[in-house]
Amino acid sequence: MANEYSKALVFRQVQASQPVMSKASELAKEIEQQIRVGDLTAGDRLPAVRELAESRNLAPNTVASVYRTLADRGLVRGAGRKGTFVAGAPPIRRPVSDHVSAGLQDLATGNPDSRLLPDLTASLSMVGSHSAMYGAPQILPELSDWFVQWFENDEIPIGGIGLASGSLDGIERILAARTRPGDKVGVEDPGYASIFDLLRAARLQPVPLQIDSEGITPESLLDATSVGLDALIVTPRAHNPTGAAFTKQRAEELTAIVERHPSMLVIEDDHAAHVAGVDYFSVVSEATARWAVVRSAAKSLGPDLRVAGLVGDVTTIDRVMGRQALGAGWVSHILQRVVVGLVSAPEIDSMFSDVADQYQTRRQALTASLSEFGIEATGRSGLNVWVPVDDEATVVAGMQRHGYAIRAGARYRIVSEPGVRITTASSHPETLTAVAETLAGVLSAGGQTRSG
Ligand SMILES: Cc1ncc(COP(=O)(O)O)c(C=O)c1O
Repeated sequence: MANEYSKALVFRQVQASQPVMSKASELAKEIEQQIRVGDLTAGDRLPAVRELAESRNLAPNTVASVYRTLADRGLVRGAGRKGTFVAGAPPIRRPVSDHVSAGLQDLATGNPDSRLLPDLTASLSMVGSHSAMYGAPQILPELSDWFVQWFENDEIPIGGIGLASGSLDGIERILAARTRPGDKVGVEDPGYASIFDLLRAARLQPVPLQIDSEGITPESLLDATSVGLDALIVTPRAHNPTGAAFTKQRAEELTAIVERHPSMLVIEDDHAAHVAGVDYFSVVSEATARWAVVRSAAKSLGPDLRVAGLVGDVTTIDRVMGRQALGAGWVSHILQRVVVGLVSAPEIDSMFSDVADQYQTRRQALTASLSEFGIEATGRSGLNVWVPVDDEATVVAGMQRHGYAIRAGARYRIVSEPGVRITTASSHPETLTAVAETLAGVLSAGGQTRSG
């Protein structure tokens, strides 16, 4: 049966005077847009050709040709007399750029502060002038040693070790190695939008888990695991968009639940790693048979250094690295050598801890000022602060009028309540105090917070 969105397709009228070609392409664009934003999802039936043609004042042939074009592109599939259905895994398009309009202060894009990233010059000069050859190891021994030491410092057991082109690449490869289409994957809600998109692309089913400032709540994990989860993706610190991070106690409570489900795949995403500003607590239990921790260089060394270390159980990591060998082959040794150069610098640890402190000062400047206005916001770790609001669009537009670009929470949510994400990473604490004052004004003028 057509869902309510496809019914909306039937009833929205197109001006009869428009030329046929433009009416057809407009209809195609409209359907594609609804699939892309998730208003129409896999298995939804599109309206019957005649029905849609009649309501849109179009010839049935025009509608039929739109459906054929969409089917050719893999967005829908025809099932004969039964109708036309949204296909299971629509092709994913290039993401829309995160452009922030000129003149606005960028508190939206979630980037690390470029001024706090290490200078690459010295490290680039150490790369050398010879290419690695086929047959070279997938991970440089020096880099592998550095990752091993770091994982060991955080008491993360090491089964196998691997390397990927960033956190998301690692997560995608781990999911490909260990899940099947249709599997249920627990994700934080709010959570990182690209993870939701990755799951959709892999035909996996996201199961939203509630979070608070300490990460996933034990109650929501209990509920989800009692119904059945095949996999779980967690962000132990620098949670995006909320800035949540596990406390030791929360991690222990979650571990106790995880260990009751030894065959559930557990993936931990440590994307901000050294600059997250809080300790790392894992929920992987000794009983966990399938697991991996992914640690990216993107936030501490720079997003363009597409390098993330992976550890996990031997089978998972072997599969990931075996599959990588078939396609990309390895993460370029040029990049690996740059990372080795950077992390071998004697001052690197103190640099990481200074940067983590600066990010913390910035987050706290905003959350403390907001709290003076009675506005509760979260941001214990990482680059962002999350403010619950009733009406995201009004608040984003209000801040824009005052010269600030912030991000509406919609793309980070499945069923959780609305909010806005404010990236604090690149702003001076004084600026963030002013941002808090502006936000308080915007909220009292219209888009009230839910908390204060
Ligand atoms: C939670 C989370 N995971 C992964 C990433 C992407 O990391 P990478 O660039 O290493 O793929 C981000 C980027 O902000 C993120 O917020």
